Amino acid sequence: MDDYRLLINGGIPLSGDTCVSGGKNTSVAVIPAVLLCDEPCVLDNIPDIEDVHVLIDIMNALGAKVLYEPEKKRLTVDPRPVSQDTVPYAFTQKLRASYYLLGALLGRQSRAQVAYPGGCSIGNRPFDQHIKAFRALGAEVEDRGAMITAQGNLRGASIVFDRITVGGTINAMLAAAKANGKTLLYNAAREPHIVDVANFINSMGGSIKGAGTDTIRIRGVSHLHGSTYTVIPDQIETGTLMIAAAATRGDVTIHGCIPTHMESLTAKLLEMGVLVSESDDAIRVRTVGGHRAVNIKTQEYPGFPTDLQQPMSAMLTMAKGTSIVNETIFETRFKHLPEIARMGAHVRILDQTAVIEGVSELYGAPVTATDLRAGAALVVAGLMARGTTEIFEPGFIARGYEHLEEKLTALGAQIRREYVSPQE
Ligand code: EPZ
Repeated sequence: MDDYRLLINGGIPLSGDTCVSGGKNTSVAVIPAVLLCDEPCVLDNIPDIEDVHVLIDIMNALGAKVLYEPEKKRLTVDPRPVSQDTVPYAFTQKLRASYYLLGALLGRQSRAQVAYPGGCSIGNRPFDQHIKAFRALGAEVEDRGAMITAQGNLRGASIVFDRITVGGTINAMLAAAKANGKTLLYNAAREPHIVDVANFINSMGGSIKGAGTDTIRIRGVSHLHGSTYTVIPDQIETGTLMIAAAATRGDVTIHGCIPTHMESLTAKLLEMGVLVSESDDAIRVRTVGGHRAVNIKTQEYPGFPTDLQQPMSAMLTMAKGTSIVNETIFETRFKHLPEIARMGAHVRILDQTAVIEGVSELYGAPVTATDLRAGAALVVAGLMARGTTEIFEPGFIARGYEHLEEKLTALGAQIRREYVSPQE
């Protein structure tokens, strides 16, 4: 139970300029990748979010020397003192992406033990493709349900993923970076942060080619030197801010982003009648007329990102007409919709498809966040609604969005925390 709730007084169009932070999903992969290195590394644009702080705790527990300077968004990591090979459940239950420690520790010292990450409300999220990759690289992997142990001297291999997996692709890259010989990853994921992790490893002297395509070629190297690296901006935060701007019929410019990463969302917003204009590193979103209903089908990059399905479907609850949202990546990623139905939305969920009939008004109500992007969806709905929305369990949001309340307040939103005593 969080000790605070988020209160939003909605119906105010957002306007002005904001800046996106460094990427969560890239940072939680690039930070473990430092374990592959034989020298200290400096990482810039690392967001001040809970997931990063949990990862810093994990790196400290492994023996690394870590310094985070939040005002500079700079993380300095010296992996040389690392002596541990185990990441206990106390950490992994807080950070699903702790699975990257398996690939990084295996790649560093040929042995890793990582407790299974915590449960997740968006689906069962198995790990079989990660294990398949480690075994193909010559590791002995024991999956005892609560703990995964992997060990062995790794050699290059050809790996064909049975399904496209972001985590599996990155974990295989981490393990193969220093394996003996060449590795080929087929049916690889192409998300922007996969390219970012490959670029970081190459900046340390690694040899990874083809990241961003479905075939990645890795030549194992014996030594990686220190590097100073700036991670890419957060694609999903950029998209969430774009959606919030459009949903409140505002006029917002988001700076420090990479417009080409946003193409599938931009196309959908244009289809709805939202005006979107781009420069090299900024996107302006505004609305002049109504919003038309659209259909969404989530797909691996460069398709419509599953992480933006939840905030987008919140916005669709007030689009003119009926929208069909098909979530193809995760099994249960619609838990935010019954909450928004409490605010007056008309939604029907049929397995992995949601049918959303646009209404003319949402009304503020008490609602509960069930996961990170569901929380973002409830914020979008609260910003749209007439009256006050009270979001319970908003702590999920702080996991993946840096200073979201401050950013929205600066754009004119009325959003604040209300601290509550445990029995309330
Ligand atoms: C990453 O999760 C992201 N997390 C997720 O973002 C994102 O939703 C997801 O990629 C898809 O883009 C991080 O990067 C830390 P997957 P990941 O492996 O790597 C199945 C957020 O909100 N699968 O691409 O776990 C899996 O069950 C989070 O920031 C297997 O079957 O996603 C899912 O249905 C949520 N076997 C699908 O593949 C495996 O071995 C895609 O999963 C691995 C995955």
